[in-house]
Amino acid sequence: MGPRALPDFPWDSLAPYKERASSVAGGLVDLSVGTPVDPTPRVVQEALRSASDAPGYPQTWGTPDLREAVTDWFARRRGVVGLDPDGVLPTMGSKELVAWLPTLLGAGPGDVVGFPGVAYPTYDVGARLAGATPQVVDGLAALGPLTPSTTPKLLWLNSPSNPTGRVLGVEHLAKVVAWARQHGVVVASDECYAELDWRTDATEPTTPSILDPRVTGGSHDGLLAVYSLSKQSNLAGYRAAFVAGDVTLVRRLLEVRKHAGMIVPWPVQRAMLAALRDDAHVAQQKARYAARRTSLRAAVEGFGLEVQHSDAGLYLWATAGDDSWATVGALADRGILVAPGTFYGEAGRRHVRIALTATDERIALAVDRLAG
Ligand SMILES: Cc1ncc(COP(=O)(O)O)c(C=O)c1O
Repeated sequence: MGPRALPDFPWDSLAPYKERASSVAGGLVDLSVGTPVDPTPRVVQEALRSASDAPGYPQTWGTPDLREAVTDWFARRRGVVGLDPDGVLPTMGSKELVAWLPTLLGAGPGDVVGFPGVAYPTYDVGARLAGATPQVVDGLAALGPLTPSTTPKLLWLNSPSNPTGRVLGVEHLAKVVAWARQHGVVVASDECYAELDWRTDATEPTTPSILDPRVTGGSHDGLLAVYSLSKQSNLAGYRAAFVAGDVTLVRRLLEVRKHAGMIVPWPVQRAMLAALRDDAHVAQQKARYAARRTSLRAAVEGFGLEVQHSDAGLYLWATAGDDSWATVGALADRGILVAPGTFYGEAGRRHVRIALTATDERIALAVDRLAG
C-alpha cells in the first residue's frame, strides 16, 4: 500500500481574499503566513559567506562543534542538561523532518501517528506519507483503553502551538512522557517558537522543553525535541533546524538520512553554528515581535475580536464568535489578510490566525486600519 492521499493545499482558497485586501488603498498587509521579514543577522550572513568554499560532502550528522553548540544552547536557554551530542542531528529546516519522521521511524500501514486537533498541518501529512493512520489526540484520556493496534507509534506535541500560541507546562509534559513510556510511544515535541515566550509570569528564558529534566526524570529515552532556527534567527531561507534527544532514535534517523542524502549543506551548518552561539540577535528579534504584538493585539481587540491563548509564538489566535471565513472577509475589507482557523483543523472553524511577521510599517498600517 502506498501513501495515503494528501490533503488539498488550502492556501489557494485564500486567493480571492488576498485580491480583496490588496485592492484597499495602501495595499495588502499580509498577516496570513509566518514567514520572517526582518534581515538575517549579520553574524549569520557572514558565517554563511565565509563557508562558501565547500567542494566536499558535508557530514549528515553535522560537525561535532555544531552538535555541541546545540547541546550548549539547550543547557543555556532551555534548562536541558545532560543532552548527549550524539543525540543531535541537523535537518534541512524542520518541516521536512516533521513530514518524514514517521517514515524515518519505520511507521507504516496499521500504525497510528497522533497530533493535536488544531495544529500545523504537516503532522497529518507526515502520517499520510508513511501510509500510517493520522489521528487527532487531544488529551490522553480521549484515546480510551489502548490495544496494540490503537496505541500510537508516534505522538506529536507542539508547544508553543502554531496556531494557538498555547504553552504546555512542565507538569503537563511530564504526564505525557510518563504515559508514553508506559505504552512504548515515541514523543516528538515541535518547539520552534520556544524563544518567543510572551508570558509575563514566566521565570525561565524560554518555554519548557520535552527534554527538561523535570519532564524526563533525567532520561531522554523515547523523546525527540524538534527545533528550528527559521523564526528566532530570520533564516527560513537557509533551511536550518535540528532534532535532539534519544541517542538510539537519532542514530536510526541518521542511518536512513545518510542513505537518502538528507544532508544540511556545509555553509548552512556553519551559519547555524554562528546563530546558536549568539543570543543577542535572538533577543533583538524578540523585542521587535514584542512591540508588534502589543500594538496589533490591542488593535485586534479594539476591532472586536477576542484573542485566546497566544501566550508564545508568532500568532494571535482570535475569534469574533463567527465562522472563520466571515472574519477573514471582514479583515480583508480592511486590507488585512489572515489565515482561517479551518486551515489547522475543524476545531479552528471560529478562529483566525494573525501573524506578527510583517514590517513595523505594515503592522502600523494594520493598526490604523483596524481603528478606522
Ligand atoms: C509548528 C511548526 N513546526 C515546524 C515549522 C517549520 O519550520 P521550518 O521548516 O522553517 O524549520 C513551522 C513553520 O511555520 C511551524 O509553525
